[in-house]
Amino acid sequence: MAVLTVDLGERSYPIHVDAGLLKRDELIREFIAGSEVMVVSDETVAPLYLDQLLAVLTGMRVTCQILPCGEDTKNLHTVTQLFDTMLEASCSRSVTVIALGGGVIGDIAGFVAACYHRGVEYLQVPTTLLAQVDSAVGGKTGINHALGKNMIGAFHQPRCVISDIDTLATLESRQVSAGIAEVLKYALIRDARFFAWLSEHMSALLACDRDTLTEAIIACCRIKAELVAADERETGDRALLNLGHTFGHAIETATGYGEWLHGEAVAVGMVLAAEMSQRLGWLGSHEVDQMRELLVRAGLPVDPPPEMTAEDFLRHMTRDKKVCDGRIRLVLLKSIGRAKLVSDYPDSVLHEVLN
Ligand code: NAD
Ligand code: GLY
Repeated sequence: MAVLTVDLGERSYPIHVDAGLLKRDELIREFIAGSEVMVVSDETVAPLYLDQLLAVLTGMRVTCQILPCGEDTKNLHTVTQLFDTMLEASCSRSVTVIALGGGVIGDIAGFVAACYHRGVEYLQVPTTLLAQVDSAVGGKTGINHALGKNMIGAFHQPRCVISDIDTLATLESRQVSAGIAEVLKYALIRDARFFAWLSEHMSALLACDRDTLTEAIIACCRIKAELVAADERETGDRALLNLGHTFGHAIETATGYGEWLHGEAVAVGMVLAAEMSQRLGWLGSHEVDQMRELLVRAGLPVDPPPEMTAEDFLRHMTRDKKVCDGRIRLVLLKSIGRAKLVSDYPDSVLHEVLN
């Protein structure tokens, strides 16, 4: 089993990556301090994996809430429902919340854990590729608002991340592709050799070959753990993890949450960021073409929704959390494997790309 660490002093925690982890009762129980557990999952994941988790929790006082699937669930109404359930079940401050599912479940459950009784512990048990490589790690929790994606939230680190590779076997191929978008993000911002490796191994990744998945997940988590340890609250380099996200979040918000998967919107966002980088003279057309080709091979879109205008993008992008003094800051690429947070680009370049 691979075990990485997110090094945050006394709040450090491990990321376990391997097959069969959901059956390892001693592993999960080790991270539950009391005897009360609140499990949050969704209507697809629960029928597949909840029994395995409950078997591990035998003897504990367990409350469960199963939520509807998808991005549309990630809102304040759902959070209120979870608080209602926990209060009705008299969950105390020593309850441990367990998020069993993809990034939607992890973000909501983490946010509930951050707020309930002013903060309780939680474990991330991610079951999508996207969640295993990204959302379960790093302690960003939160929900969407009609006016913007992930606009309400808190930093709250989990006690551990338990990524059972076996759960990925039941993922739909569209969800695998969405996860690969975030995998490619790590390569683009940090590691040109990883980008080349992904190009070589794309077919195996799409086929969910276990060894390939494991290697990719570990590579991504290593990069994420390093960036989070150095900059937990995103005052510096952690922002690089948002490559493509300012454009992508605009797509998700404009199209209503759920029509576009997060990873799909990020894929298009990364292409727009690459096109800006090309216009600034940083990326060559060959590199942009290479990127587009690999995203297409991964089964991802590379063009924005045809109905979205430049004005639509800008309206949503001006609410991005990275906006500073009214300026939209963007993660752009100096080269494949090297990203930079930029605010002093000419506006004309952004407008040209959006048009
Ligand atoms: P998701 O949680 O909606 O899961 C995708 C779909 O796959 C859902 O329908 C779910 O029911 C299903 N599913 C989950 N596990 C499955 C399994 N093992 N087998 C079969 N089906 C399964 O979406 P996601 O792509 O995992 O996460 C996207 C969310 O993550 C977005 O809201 C995004 O904003 C957020 N995110 C957060 C961070 C962070 O740092 N907190 C980082 C990246 C993304
Ligand atoms: N997904 C971006 C971050 O965790 O910072």
